Amino acid sequence: METITHRIARILAALEPGADAGELEAWLERPAEPEHGDLSLPCFKLSKRLRRSPQAIAEDWAERLQDDAVAEARAVSGYLNLSMNRAWVAEQTLAALERQGEAYGSSDRGAGRTVVIDYSSPNIAKPFHIAHLRSTVIGQSLRRILSFSGYRCIGVNHLGDWGTQFGKLLTAYRHWGDEALVERDGIDELLRLYVRFHDEAEARPELEDEARGWFARLEQGDPEAAERWARFVEISLAHFNRVYERLGVSFDAYTGESFYNDKMPAVLEELRAKGLLEEDDGAQVVRLDDYGMPPALILKQDGSSLYPTRDIAAALYRKTHYAASRILYVTDYAQQLHFKQWFAVIERMGYPWASALEHVPFGRVSFGGEGLSTRKGNVVKLEEVLEQAVQKTEAIMRDKVRDSRARAEVARAVGVGAVIFHDLSRHRLHDVSFEWSQVLNFDGETGPYVQYTHARACRLLARASAAPQPDNPAAAGGALQLVDDSVVADGWTEQFNEDSLVVDGGVEQFDEDSLVAAGGAEHLTDDAAWPLVQALHRFPERVEQAERSLEPSVISKTLIELAQAFNRFYHHCPVLTEAPAVREARLRLVGATAQTLRTGLYLIGLEAPQSI
Ligand code: ARG
Repeated sequence: METITHRIARILAALEPGADAGELEAWLERPAEPEHGDLSLPCFKLSKRLRRSPQAIAEDWAERLQDDAVAEARAVSGYLNLSMNRAWVAEQTLAALERQGEAYGSSDRGAGRTVVIDYSSPNIAKPFHIAHLRSTVIGQSLRRILSFSGYRCIGVNHLGDWGTQFGKLLTAYRHWGDEALVERDGIDELLRLYVRFHDEAEARPELEDEARGWFARLEQGDPEAAERWARFVEISLAHFNRVYERLGVSFDAYTGESFYNDKMPAVLEELRAKGLLEEDDGAQVVRLDDYGMPPALILKQDGSSLYPTRDIAAALYRKTHYAASRILYVTDYAQQLHFKQWFAVIERMGYPWASALEHVPFGRVSFGGEGLSTRKGNVVKLEEVLEQAVQKTEAIMRDKVRDSRARAEVARAVGVGAVIFHDLSRHRLHDVSFEWSQVLNFDGETGPYVQYTHARACRLLARASAAPQPDNPAAAGGALQLVDDSVVADGWTEQFNEDSLVVDGGVEQFDEDSLVAAGGAEHLTDDAAWPLVQALHRFPERVEQAERSLEPSVISKTLIELAQAFNRFYHHCPVLTEAPAVREARLRLVGATAQTLRTGLYLIGLEAPQSI
């Protein structure tokens, strides 16, 4: 479907040889005041080129512009103000939505291109930390947005399962490890051991040497080290997978840092052969003076590999193994220098595809104003956060939904959704402060609010398909009872008080196809429906914007706009009680909204229960 702005720009450009469609489209504004119409084109910039006054251009175009999409064109003080033909826009939008269904908003912009997305990537032997939640949910959302835009996406979990910290853990286990405790407490016990190592090493620095020794043994394949390490990995993965299951997140590969251990010698050989490796204070580095950066550390004095070394090996592998056109790395912005450095090493190695490597940074997460650090042990565990979110949601729903199984299922989708949405509701580079009162503020601009709005639209559709038509004489009496619950104010908790949340413990089902009847868009022109029509119309543009800027918050914001526009429509425009033609047209709009909300929720990784 061609967007309105694109269409208008194209038609105006055709009227005037000196005008350029792309330029006009960029200049089109959406005026804040309704009396200025839906779109406005300032003609000042054209004035010089066309040697006419802005007002003369606007007047000329207002007179000559003839298009189905435009109801009225006026020239006002050098602006060309356009009011859209609302029925036409509504019909185009609904027809596209009905034709494409869940593919509405998708595209083939990325066709034939493969993107590897490296996300989540937590560190073994440490509990899944709330900061890793950001990488996980941003990465998962990007994967969905990019797939929806035609790319082939490979989700990779670059587990932090290699490095000197394993030497520390092996040392700690040697001194204070108790298999029974590890068995019982799993990852929590591993964290205790790690924290204890740091405490003790302050007084006994020789422990650090011991740890380096153990990591060297691990890298050389020492059986005792390898076996214990494998156990740490197993315990950690069991824990991570529980979290992923809750979040509904998946990966195509769990190739962590250790996966590249046997690929390292070839990388070192290549660096050496290309004359890039230099000795610096006993360590091996690649100089990046030309880039104005400190050298990239490749090998430590003791010959052990480093985080950048493993990233270089991983990039070479991904480029060839997946034939990747782009490789994205979703981590916190504190790692910016690390990525810049080793991207530069790839460039110095002579690979033109260095430009395919993109760091997708995001802001820090703090919990109640405090920073997070593993060494001191004050980690906020995501598993606990999610559990609490679900429990709190279930408590809110306790009196509203009788059936406990249905309630638990919905509380899971809504509670987890609240946490994910909170994380994706702001621009990814902004820091987030994780405060319960905000995450679970279900009256605000939150995931539950959007999910609730979707369920509300579904409920309306279910009633419509179950209810007799008001023009059916046999049902004349019944129709009167089909009063919408549109009197309820916006806001999720209040809306929870509505009746018919769940009918007899079951979930109301509906068949959208049976409701769809083309035509009738002339009934969708009132002021309460128009913002909703426009929000639906713009959805594909918003997906494109999210894809180009690698920014899931574009989708979250769109969902809030859509939900707010729908709730205003719902409040002002009764549906089921209207005459058949109006009812059918409004139901089309409700069906289209439900579909678009569902798609948007999917794109940021939230479920869309039909009944809340
Ligand atoms: N494990 C790292 C951390 O927790 C993130 C890894 C990101 N991916 C990468 N290829 N470096 O900080």
